[in-house]
Amino acid sequence: MSHDNTPPSNTKRSVRKQAEETLKDKNSKLLNSAVVFLPEDIQKLIHELQVNKIELEMQKDELLTTQAELKVSHARYYDLYNKAPVGYCTINEDGLILDANDTASGMFGLSHEDLQKKLLTDLIYKDDQDIYYFCCTKFLSSSKETSCELRMKNSEGFLFWVQIYATSEKEINGFPYIRVVIVDITETKNAQEEIQKLNDTLKDEIARQVEELRKKDVLLMEQATLAQLGEMINMIAHQWRQPLNAISGAAVELSLLNMMGEVSKEKIAQNSKFTQEVAKKMSDTIDEFMDFNKKTDIAKFSLLSIVEKTVDIVMPQFESRSITLEIDIDKELTVFHNKTAIKHALLNILINSRDAFDENIRLNKRKINIYTKENNGAVTLLIEDNAGGIAKSIVPKVFNPYFTTKEQGKGTGLGLYMTKQMIEKVKNSTVSVESKNKNTIVKIKFPV
Ligand SMILES: Nc1ncnc2c1ncn2[C@@H]1O[C@H](COP(=O)(O)OP(=O)(O)O)[C@@H](O)[C@H]1O
Ligand SMILES: [Mg+2]
Repeated sequence: MSHDNTPPSNTKRSVRKQAEETLKDKNSKLLNSAVVFLPEDIQKLIHELQVNKIELEMQKDELLTTQAELKVSHARYYDLYNKAPVGYCTINEDGLILDANDTASGMFGLSHEDLQKKLLTDLIYKDDQDIYYFCCTKFLSSSKETSCELRMKNSEGFLFWVQIYATSEKEINGFPYIRVVIVDITETKNAQEEIQKLNDTLKDEIARQVEELRKKDVLLMEQATLAQLGEMINMIAHQWRQPLNAISGAAVELSLLNMMGEVSKEKIAQNSKFTQEVAKKMSDTIDEFMDFNKKTDIAKFSLLSIVEKTVDIVMPQFESRSITLEIDIDKELTVFHNKTAIKHALLNILINSRDAFDENIRLNKRKINIYTKENNGAVTLLIEDNAGGIAKSIVPKVFNPYFTTKEQGKGTGLGLYMTKQMIEKVKNSTVSVESKNKNTIVKIKFPV
């Protein structure tokens, strides 16, 4: 379509000018001798008629061009409107459909005529009508573009998801109307639902796996605790062997003296006192072991006292293997952690040293040093043995559950795993292992 903004009188004048020029051009080519001899006013009239004729022809051409342009424009508009990927409906204030495009008619499976008899609400799924009502009220009160998501149904009752936009409010013949754009979002919704379902499944799966891992962890810890308990029973047995022998010796002595008729009251009293003392020591050992397993909270405690208590338990086993143990920890030094966790960790570490010495029986001067280092207020406890060290390739694996280099029945591979779990449960604590110059150093770093 042409968009000539020139005022009509100007257009007229220019058309006339063009017509006059065309006529002049024509006359110059065809010398009209007959006209030259006519009276002047007739000549003028003929000229005027000729100009008018040309003018009309020009206007006719222009009209034909405009008409052709209009046709193209109309076809384009028709295409744009009807073949748009979205449905367009024009509704009046009561929601009655006045007009709809082909897409809308296709969406609902209704002809244009059938659509035009319907209220838009008739096409909305009953459970979602309130959403539409709310959207319209919002639009009518603000006149701003509003949109909502709801379900509509087609002529066969099939439900589909749409996004509805109330776009403009104009007047036709003095009555207001609303243009409604309907976008089919069923695929998006289905994809969203699918994603949601996948997410839910994923969440369930993650929760299930987390739970499984937790159960496995509990099982691991139970196994580790059981293994440690076995070690402890071993140690009690070790600690009891000597006093049991002593009690037994005292009893045998009394019975021999009795056989020889030489048992005296003093001897009975002496041996009875001795037996009671030894039994008391044995009972104390039980208390120590009970105390060892007591549940404790995170608190400040003296590091030296805890190290000594643990060393006491392993000492009989270490002495029988000629392992010397040196402790160099400031008596005043306190740390913040879980006492029981530290005791159990130390026990695991010392048992590993014992096992390493057992594997390297030819080593003499078997030694374990327990000492501390301080760096910017952070205390690190170091347990260093000279039992041969750990191969470089093995060091990164020692904290893995079930990793062991020991023969079956000797190692579970849970000692250091359990140690790491217990130590690092307390924030900012770490446990690490280093091996250098055939020495193994286990480091426990406490929080500042
Ligand atoms: N002090 C140590 N000296 C040499 N090797 C050690 C020492 N401590 C730990 N290891 C190595 O780390 C492995 C894992 O230790 P741990 O988790 O306590 O399991 P386990 O003692 O049951 O084998 C041991 O099998 C051993 O190879
Ligand atoms: Mg171990």
